[in-house]
Amino acid sequence: MVPVFSMIVFPKTFQDILLAYVKEISFRGTRREGFAARPFGREDLRFFAKGVAELSDLFTAERRRLNAGYLNQPQYRAAYLLYFLPINYAKTLFILDQMPTEFWKRDLFRVLDLGCGPGSSSLAFLTSLNRKNPHARVELTLVEQNEKILNDARALLAKLFPKLRLQIHAHALRLEKFRSPGEFDLILMSHVLNEMTQLSAQERAAWLFPKLETALAPEGLLLISEPALKRPTRELMALRDHLLEDKTFCVLAPCLHREICPMLAATAQDWCHFYIDWEEPTYLQELDRLVKNDNRFLKVAYLLLGRTRAYGKLATRPRNFFRVVSNRMKTKGKTELVLCGPPGRLTLSRLDRERQAANAVLDEVRRGEVLEVKGMNLPGYEVGRKARVNPTLTIKKITAF
Ligand SMILES: C[S@@+](CC[C@H](N)C(=O)[O-])C[C@H]1O[C@@H](n2cnc3c(N)ncnc32)[C@H](O)[C@@H]1O
Repeated sequence: MVPVFSMIVFPKTFQDILLAYVKEISFRGTRREGFAARPFGREDLRFFAKGVAELSDLFTAERRRLNAGYLNQPQYRAAYLLYFLPINYAKTLFILDQMPTEFWKRDLFRVLDLGCGPGSSSLAFLTSLNRKNPHARVELTLVEQNEKILNDARALLAKLFPKLRLQIHAHALRLEKFRSPGEFDLILMSHVLNEMTQLSAQERAAWLFPKLETALAPEGLLLISEPALKRPTRELMALRDHLLEDKTFCVLAPCLHREICPMLAATAQDWCHFYIDWEEPTYLQELDRLVKNDNRFLKVAYLLLGRTRAYGKLATRPRNFFRVVSNRMKTKGKTELVLCGPPGRLTLSRLDRERQAANAVLDEVRRGEVLEVKGMNLPGYEVGRKARVNPTLTIKKITAF
Protein backbone atom coordinates (compact mmCIF):
# COMPACT_ATOMS: atom_id res chain seq x y z
CA MET A 1 0.00 0.00 0.00
CA VAL A 2 1.16 3.52 -0.63
CA PRO A 3 2.22 5.64 2.34
CA VAL A 4 -0.60 7.49 4.03
CA PHE A 5 -0.75 11.03 5.41
CA SER A 6 0.70 12.98 2.47
CA MET A 7 -0.34 16.65 2.67
CA ILE A 8 -3.75 17.18 1.16
CA VAL A 9 -4.60 20.25 -0.88
CA PHE A 10 -7.68 21.58 -2.67
CA PRO A 11 -5.81 23.06 -5.65
CA LYS A 12 -5.89 26.81 -6.23
CA THR A 13 -7.09 26.33 -9.81
CA PHE A 14 -10.08 24.36 -8.45
CA GLN A 15 -10.76 27.07 -5.88
CA ASP A 16 -10.84 29.79 -8.51
CA ILE A 17 -13.20 27.85 -10.78
CA LEU A 18 -15.45 26.85 -7.87
CA LEU A 19 -15.72 30.36 -6.43
CA ALA A 20 -16.57 31.85 -9.82
CA TYR A 21 -19.11 29.08 -10.43
CA VAL A 22 -20.86 29.61 -7.09
CA LYS A 23 -21.22 33.32 -7.77
CA GLU A 24 -22.47 32.69 -11.26
CA ILE A 25 -25.23 30.25 -10.25
CA SER A 26 -26.20 32.18 -7.12
CA PHE A 27 -26.40 35.66 -8.64
CA ARG A 28 -27.88 34.73 -12.01
CA GLY A 29 -31.31 36.39 -12.42
CA THR A 30 -31.00 38.31 -9.13
CA ARG A 31 -30.24 41.95 -8.44
CA ARG A 32 -26.64 40.89 -7.77
CA GLU A 33 -26.20 39.61 -11.32
CA GLY A 34 -23.87 42.51 -12.12
CA PHE A 35 -21.43 41.31 -9.42
CA ALA A 36 -21.21 37.74 -10.71
CA ALA A 37 -18.20 38.33 -12.96
CA ARG A 38 -16.19 40.25 -10.34
CA PRO A 39 -13.47 38.41 -8.44
CA PHE A 40 -14.66 36.63 -5.31
CA GLY A 41 -14.04 38.89 -2.33
CA ARG A 42 -14.72 39.48 1.39
CA GLU A 43 -18.16 40.84 0.61
CA ASP A 44 -19.05 37.55 -1.10
CA LEU A 45 -17.80 35.52 1.85
CA ARG A 46 -20.03 37.50 4.18
CA PHE A 47 -22.95 37.00 1.80
CA PHE A 48 -22.56 33.20 1.76
CA ALA A 49 -21.54 32.77 5.42
CA LYS A 50 -25.10 32.71 6.76
CA GLY A 51 -26.03 29.69 4.63
CA VAL A 52 -22.79 27.96 5.63
CA ALA A 53 -23.49 28.52 9.34
CA GLU A 54 -27.06 27.24 9.06
CA LEU A 55 -26.19 24.19 6.98
CA SER A 56 -23.30 23.39 9.27
CA ASP A 57 -25.71 23.40 12.23
CA LEU A 58 -28.18 21.21 10.38
CA PHE A 59 -25.40 18.72 9.58
CA THR A 60 -24.19 18.52 13.15
CA ALA A 61 -26.73 19.25 15.84
CA GLU A 62 -29.93 18.85 13.90
CA ARG A 63 -29.31 16.30 11.18
CA ARG A 64 -32.67 14.64 11.69
CA ARG A 65 -34.31 17.95 10.80
CA LEU A 66 -32.54 17.94 7.46
CA ASN A 67 -35.21 17.34 4.85
CA ALA A 68 -34.47 15.57 1.59
CA GLY A 69 -34.82 18.78 -0.40
CA TYR A 70 -32.28 20.85 1.54
CA LEU A 71 -30.12 21.37 -1.52
CA ASN A 72 -33.05 22.96 -3.35
CA GLN A 73 -32.64 25.99 -1.14
CA PRO A 74 -30.23 28.28 -3.02
CA GLN A 75 -28.37 29.41 0.10
CA TYR A 76 -27.70 25.79 1.16
CA ARG A 77 -26.72 24.68 -2.31
CA ALA A 78 -24.19 27.54 -2.51
CA ALA A 79 -22.99 26.77 1.03
CA TYR A 80 -22.51 23.12 0.15
CA LEU A 81 -20.49 23.94 -2.94
CA LEU A 82 -18.30 26.53 -1.26
CA TYR A 83 -17.71 24.83 2.03
CA PHE A 84 -18.51 21.11 2.13
CA LEU A 85 -17.32 20.23 -1.36
CA PRO A 86 -13.62 21.02 -0.66
CA ILE A 87 -13.86 19.38 2.76
CA ASN A 88 -15.32 16.13 1.45
CA TYR A 89 -12.94 16.25 -1.51
CA ALA A 90 -10.02 16.32 0.94
CA LYS A 91 -11.47 13.51 3.03
CA THR A 92 -11.89 11.29 -0.03
CA LEU A 93 -8.34 12.04 -1.19
CA PHE A 94 -7.10 10.91 2.22
CA ILE A 95 -8.92 7.58 1.89
CA LEU A 96 -7.96 7.06 -1.76
CA ASP A 97 -4.34 7.37 -0.68
CA GLN A 98 -4.82 4.15 1.27
CA MET A 99 -5.93 2.05 -1.67
CA PRO A 100 -3.66 -0.74 -2.89
CA THR A 101 -1.19 0.38 -5.57
CA GLU A 102 -2.46 -2.40 -7.86
CA PHE A 103 -5.91 -0.85 -7.92
CA TRP A 104 -4.68 2.10 -9.96
CA LYS A 105 -3.24 -0.07 -12.73
CA ARG A 106 -6.07 -0.47 -15.22
CA ASP A 107 -6.97 1.16 -18.50
CA LEU A 108 -10.63 1.78 -17.73
CA PHE A 109 -12.17 2.78 -14.41
CA ARG A 110 -15.90 2.31 -13.98
CA VAL A 111 -16.86 4.46 -11.02
CA LEU A 112 -20.20 4.80 -9.26
CA ASP A 113 -20.76 7.80 -6.99
CA LEU A 114 -23.89 7.23 -4.90
CA GLY A 115 -25.42 10.39 -3.41
CA CYS A 116 -22.76 12.30 -5.32
CA GLY A 117 -23.91 15.81 -4.35
CA PRO A 118 -21.71 18.23 -6.35
CA GLY A 119 -19.28 15.39 -7.14
CA SER A 120 -16.83 16.07 -4.29
CA SER A 121 -15.64 12.45 -4.15
CA SER A 122 -15.56 11.94 -7.89
CA LEU A 123 -13.41 15.06 -8.18
CA ALA A 124 -11.04 13.60 -5.59
CA PHE A 125 -10.92 10.30 -7.45
CA LEU A 126 -10.10 12.05 -10.73
CA THR A 127 -7.39 14.06 -9.00
CA SER A 128 -5.79 10.86 -7.68
CA LEU A 129 -6.14 9.15 -11.02
CA ASN A 130 -4.61 12.10 -12.81
CA ARG A 131 -1.52 11.61 -10.65
CA LYS A 132 -1.35 7.84 -10.68
CA ASN A 133 -2.60 6.82 -14.10
CA PRO A 134 -3.35 9.90 -16.24
CA HIS A 135 -4.01 8.01 -19.47
CA ALA A 136 -6.77 5.79 -18.11
CA ARG A 137 -10.34 6.21 -19.29
CA VAL A 138 -13.15 6.81 -16.83
CA GLU A 139 -16.84 5.96 -17.01
CA LEU A 140 -18.45 7.79 -14.14
CA THR A 141 -22.01 7.05 -13.02
CA LEU A 142 -23.55 9.64 -10.72
CA VAL A 143 -26.68 8.95 -8.68
CA GLU A 144 -28.25 11.79 -6.76
CA GLN A 145 -31.78 12.64 -5.65
CA ASN A 146 -31.31 16.38 -6.11
CA GLU A 147 -31.24 17.43 -9.73
CA LYS A 148 -29.70 20.86 -9.13
CA ILE A 149 -26.67 19.61 -7.26
CA LEU A 150 -26.33 16.78 -9.79
CA ASN A 151 -26.12 19.41 -12.53
CA ASP A 152 -23.46 21.19 -10.48
CA ALA A 153 -21.49 17.94 -10.32
CA ARG A 154 -21.64 17.58 -14.09
CA ALA A 155 -20.68 21.21 -14.69
CA LEU A 156 -17.77 21.14 -12.24
CA LEU A 157 -16.39 17.83 -13.49
CA ALA A 158 -16.31 19.26 -17.01
CA LYS A 159 -14.73 22.54 -15.90
CA LEU A 160 -12.09 20.98 -13.62
CA PHE A 161 -11.13 18.04 -15.82
CA PRO A 162 -11.59 19.26 -19.40
CA LYS A 163 -8.83 17.03 -20.76
CA LEU A 164 -9.70 13.74 -19.10
CA ARG A 165 -11.11 10.84 -21.08
CA LEU A 166 -14.29 10.97 -19.05
CA GLN A 167 -17.77 9.72 -19.84
CA ILE A 168 -20.51 10.71 -17.40
CA HIS A 169 -23.88 9.01 -16.85
CA ALA A 170 -25.99 11.05 -14.45
CA HIS A 171 -29.14 9.70 -12.79
CA ALA A 172 -31.43 12.06 -10.87
CA LEU A 173 -32.79 9.31 -8.66
CA ARG A 174 -33.11 8.14 -5.11
CA LEU A 175 -30.55 5.44 -4.36
CA GLU A 176 -33.30 3.03 -3.42
CA LYS A 177 -34.57 3.18 -7.02
CA PHE A 178 -31.19 2.78 -8.72
CA ARG A 179 -30.59 -0.54 -10.49
CA SER A 180 -26.95 -1.09 -11.31
CA PRO A 181 -26.40 -1.34 -15.07
CA GLY A 182 -23.23 -3.40 -14.57
CA GLU A 183 -20.12 -3.74 -12.46
CA PHE A 184 -17.98 -0.97 -11.01
CA ASP A 185 -14.31 -0.81 -10.10
CA LEU A 186 -14.96 1.80 -7.46
CA ILE A 187 -18.13 2.67 -5.57
CA LEU A 188 -18.09 5.93 -3.64
CA MET A 189 -20.54 6.67 -0.84
CA SER A 190 -19.43 9.88 0.79
CA HIS A 191 -21.55 11.27 3.63
CA VAL A 192 -24.74 9.82 2.24
CA LEU A 193 -25.60 6.77 4.37
CA ASN A 194 -26.38 8.88 7.41
CA GLU A 195 -28.99 10.73 5.38
CA MET A 196 -30.90 7.48 4.98
CA THR A 197 -32.27 8.13 8.44
CA GLN A 198 -35.24 5.84 7.96
CA LEU A 199 -32.91 2.79 8.03
CA SER A 200 -31.05 1.27 10.99
CA ALA A 201 -27.46 0.04 10.54
CA GLN A 202 -28.77 -3.49 10.05
CA GLU A 203 -31.32 -2.34 7.47
CA ARG A 204 -28.64 -0.31 5.66
CA ALA A 205 -26.47 -3.43 5.51
CA ALA A 206 -29.42 -5.51 4.30
CA TRP A 207 -30.03 -2.91 1.58
CA LEU A 208 -26.37 -2.47 0.62
CA PHE A 209 -25.16 -6.07 0.67
CA PRO A 210 -27.08 -7.39 -2.38
CA LYS A 211 -26.31 -4.16 -4.24
CA LEU A 212 -22.59 -4.69 -3.66
CA GLU A 213 -22.79 -8.32 -4.61
CA THR A 214 -23.98 -7.35 -8.08
CA ALA A 215 -22.41 -3.92 -8.58
CA LEU A 216 -18.88 -4.38 -7.24
CA ALA A 217 -16.47 -5.78 -9.85
CA PRO A 218 -14.35 -8.76 -8.72
CA GLU A 219 -11.43 -6.44 -7.96
CA GLY A 220 -13.53 -3.42 -7.17
CA LEU A 221 -13.45 -1.36 -3.99
CA LEU A 222 -16.13 0.38 -1.96
CA LEU A 223 -15.29 3.57 -0.14
CA ILE A 224 -17.73 4.80 2.50
CA SER A 225 -17.14 7.95 4.50
CA GLU A 226 -19.35 9.53 7.10
CA PRO A 227 -19.29 12.63 9.28
CA ALA A 228 -17.05 11.86 12.25
CA LEU A 229 -19.81 12.54 14.76
CA LYS A 230 -20.63 9.97 17.39
CA ARG A 231 -23.98 8.72 16.07
CA PRO A 232 -23.21 8.37 12.33
CA THR A 233 -19.81 6.88 13.10
CA ARG A 234 -21.15 4.27 15.51
CA GLU A 235 -23.78 3.45 12.89
CA LEU A 236 -20.97 2.99 10.38
CA MET A 237 -19.13 0.71 12.82
CA ALA A 238 -22.31 -1.36 13.17
CA LEU A 239 -22.81 -1.43 9.40
CA ARG A 240 -19.25 -2.74 9.08
CA ASP A 241 -19.97 -5.60 11.45
CA HIS A 242 -23.12 -6.54 9.54
CA LEU A 243 -21.37 -6.41 6.15
CA LEU A 244 -18.57 -8.64 7.42
CA GLU A 245 -20.85 -11.28 8.99
CA ASP A 246 -20.62 -13.12 5.70
CA LYS A 247 -17.16 -13.83 4.23
CA THR A 248 -17.94 -12.17 0.88
CA PHE A 249 -16.34 -8.82 1.75
CA CYS A 250 -13.29 -7.78 3.71
CA VAL A 251 -12.13 -4.47 5.09
CA LEU A 252 -8.88 -2.90 3.89
CA ALA A 253 -8.93 0.20 6.07
CA PRO A 254 -9.03 1.50 8.69
CA CYS A 255 -9.54 -1.91 10.37
CA LEU A 256 -6.64 -4.34 10.40
CA HIS A 257 -8.89 -7.36 11.05
CA ARG A 258 -12.38 -8.65 10.30
CA GLU A 259 -13.48 -9.56 13.83
CA ILE A 260 -16.36 -7.61 15.40
CA CYS A 261 -15.55 -3.96 15.97
CA PRO A 262 -14.10 -4.01 19.48
CA MET A 263 -14.68 -0.32 20.06
CA LEU A 264 -18.37 -0.74 19.34
CA ALA A 265 -18.59 -3.85 21.50
CA ALA A 266 -16.58 -2.57 24.45
CA THR A 267 -17.65 1.06 24.73
CA ALA A 268 -20.84 3.06 24.56
CA GLN A 269 -19.21 6.42 24.02
CA ASP A 270 -16.25 6.03 21.65
CA TRP A 271 -16.35 6.30 17.89
CA CYS A 272 -13.66 5.33 15.41
CA HIS A 273 -12.54 8.48 13.64
CA PHE A 274 -9.38 10.06 12.34
CA TYR A 275 -7.88 13.49 11.70
CA ILE A 276 -6.62 14.73 8.37
CA ASP A 277 -3.91 17.28 8.08
CA TRP A 278 -4.56 19.49 5.05
CA GLU A 279 -3.77 22.86 3.61
CA GLU A 280 -7.06 24.56 4.26
CA PRO A 281 -7.78 27.08 1.47
CA THR A 282 -7.48 30.69 2.67
CA TYR A 283 -11.07 31.50 1.75
CA LEU A 284 -12.26 28.56 3.89
CA GLN A 285 -10.18 29.78 6.80
CA GLU A 286 -11.92 33.14 6.46
CA LEU A 287 -15.33 31.48 6.22
CA ASP A 288 -14.48 29.44 9.32
CA ARG A 289 -13.69 32.63 11.20
CA LEU A 290 -17.05 34.08 10.16
CA VAL A 291 -19.07 31.00 11.12
CA LYS A 292 -16.87 30.08 14.12
CA ASN A 293 -15.90 26.62 12.89
CA ASP A 294 -12.49 25.02 12.91
CA ASN A 295 -11.36 22.93 9.95
CA ARG A 296 -7.61 23.09 10.41
CA PHE A 297 -7.80 19.32 10.81
CA LEU A 298 -10.61 17.43 9.14
CA LYS A 299 -12.31 14.64 11.01
CA VAL A 300 -13.41 11.56 9.13
CA ALA A 301 -14.93 8.14 9.73
CA TYR A 302 -14.53 5.72 6.86
CA LEU A 303 -14.39 2.20 5.52
CA LEU A 304 -12.59 0.77 2.53
CA LEU A 305 -14.02 -2.61 1.53
CA GLY A 306 -13.35 -5.15 -1.19
CA ARG A 307 -14.20 -8.73 -2.04
CA THR A 308 -12.44 -11.29 0.12
CA ARG A 309 -11.63 -13.33 -2.95
CA ALA A 310 -9.54 -10.47 -4.36
CA TYR A 311 -8.32 -8.67 -1.25
CA GLY A 312 -8.63 -11.19 1.60
CA LYS A 313 -4.91 -11.89 1.63
CA LEU A 314 -3.97 -8.22 1.68
CA ALA A 315 -6.54 -7.54 4.40
CA THR A 316 -5.01 -10.22 6.62
CA ARG A 317 -2.52 -8.14 8.57
CA PRO A 318 0.30 -9.40 10.77
CA ARG A 319 -0.95 -10.04 14.31
CA ASN A 320 1.38 -7.43 15.73
CA PHE A 321 0.09 -4.54 13.58
CA PHE A 322 -2.13 -2.06 15.39
CA ARG A 323 -3.83 1.14 14.30
CA VAL A 324 -3.87 3.97 16.81
CA VAL A 325 -7.54 4.76 17.46
CA SER A 326 -7.20 7.38 20.19
CA ASN A 327 -5.26 10.53 20.80
CA ARG A 328 -1.99 10.17 22.66
CA MET A 329 -2.99 10.58 26.29
CA LYS A 330 -0.21 11.99 28.36
CA THR A 331 -0.89 12.10 32.07
CA LYS A 332 1.46 12.55 34.97
CA GLY A 333 4.08 9.86 34.72
CA LYS A 334 2.67 7.91 31.77
CA THR A 335 1.58 7.89 28.12
CA GLU A 336 -1.43 5.89 27.00
CA LEU A 337 -2.83 4.94 23.60
CA VAL A 338 -5.74 2.83 22.43
CA LEU A 339 -4.74 0.47 19.62
CA CYS A 340 -6.82 -1.78 17.39
CA GLY A 341 -5.46 -4.81 15.57
CA PRO A 342 -5.91 -8.56 14.95
CA PRO A 343 -5.74 -9.44 18.69
CA GLY A 344 -8.46 -6.84 19.42
CA ARG A 345 -8.56 -3.51 21.19
CA LEU A 346 -5.61 -2.79 23.38
CA THR A 347 -4.96 0.04 25.79
CA LEU A 348 -1.21 0.33 25.87
CA SER A 349 0.44 2.37 28.59
CA ARG A 350 4.04 3.28 29.14
CA LEU A 351 5.39 4.75 32.33
CA ASP A 352 7.74 7.65 31.65
CA ARG A 353 10.53 5.77 33.37
CA GLU A 354 10.13 2.92 30.85
CA ARG A 355 10.84 5.26 27.96
CA GLN A 356 13.67 4.04 25.72
CA ALA A 357 14.68 4.12 22.06
CA ALA A 358 12.74 0.92 21.30
CA ASN A 359 9.44 2.58 22.30
CA ALA A 360 10.21 6.27 21.67
CA VAL A 361 7.73 6.30 18.78
CA LEU A 362 4.97 6.46 21.40
CA ASP A 363 5.98 10.09 22.00
CA GLU A 364 5.07 11.21 18.50
CA VAL A 365 2.68 8.67 16.99
CA ARG A 366 -0.67 10.10 15.93
CA ARG A 367 -4.21 8.81 15.75
CA GLY A 368 -4.67 6.78 12.57
CA GLU A 369 -1.07 5.67 12.22
CA VAL A 370 -0.10 2.00 12.28
CA LEU A 371 2.38 0.52 14.74
CA GLU A 372 4.22 -2.76 14.74
CA VAL A 373 4.65 -4.06 18.28
CA LYS A 374 7.29 -6.77 18.65
CA GLY A 375 7.70 -8.90 21.75
CA MET A 376 4.11 -9.06 22.99
CA ASN A 377 2.15 -12.31 23.10
CA LEU A 378 -1.59 -11.71 22.74
CA PRO A 379 -3.38 -14.95 21.82
CA GLY A 380 -7.00 -14.97 20.62
CA TYR A 381 -9.22 -11.94 20.22
CA GLU A 382 -10.50 -9.63 22.95
CA VAL A 383 -12.44 -6.39 22.75
CA GLY A 384 -10.79 -4.82 25.79
CA ARG A 385 -7.20 -5.69 26.60
CA LYS A 386 -4.70 -3.71 28.61
CA ALA A 387 -0.92 -3.97 28.43
CA ARG A 388 2.09 -2.16 29.84
CA VAL A 389 5.19 -1.40 27.83
CA ASN A 390 8.13 -3.37 29.16
CA PRO A 391 11.82 -3.36 28.18
CA THR A 392 11.42 -6.35 25.85
CA LEU A 393 8.97 -4.57 23.51
CA THR A 394 10.06 -2.92 20.28
CA ILE A 395 7.56 -0.56 18.71
CA LYS A 396 7.90 1.08 15.33
CA LYS A 397 5.72 2.99 12.93
CA ILE A 398 4.64 1.32 9.69
CA THR A 399 4.25 3.82 6.86
CA ALA A 400 3.67 1.48 3.94
CA PHE A 401 2.22 -2.00 4.00
C1 LIG B 1 -23.94 15.35 2.60
S1 LIG B 1 -24.24 15.21 0.92
C2 LIG B 1 -22.80 14.36 0.32
C3 LIG B 1 -22.55 14.68 -1.11
C4 LIG B 1 -21.25 14.16 -1.67
N1 LIG B 1 -21.23 12.72 -1.71
C5 LIG B 1 -20.08 14.70 -0.89
O1 LIG B 1 -19.36 13.92 -0.29
O2 LIG B 1 -19.91 15.91 -0.86
C6 LIG B 1 -25.42 13.92 0.80
C7 LIG B 1 -25.97 13.82 -0.60
O3 LIG B 1 -26.70 12.61 -0.70
C8 LIG B 1 -27.91 12.87 -1.36
N2 LIG B 1 -28.86 11.85 -0.88
C9 LIG B 1 -29.27 11.63 0.39
N3 LIG B 1 -30.12 10.59 0.45
C10 LIG B 1 -30.26 10.15 -0.83
C11 LIG B 1 -31.01 9.11 -1.43
N4 LIG B 1 -31.78 8.33 -0.70
N5 LIG B 1 -30.91 8.94 -2.76
C12 LIG B 1 -30.12 9.75 -3.52
N6 LIG B 1 -29.39 10.75 -3.01
C13 LIG B 1 -29.45 10.95 -1.68
C14 LIG B 1 -28.27 14.28 -0.94
O4 LIG B 1 -29.18 14.88 -1.84
C15 LIG B 1 -26.92 14.94 -0.95
O5 LIG B 1 -26.58 15.45 -2.19
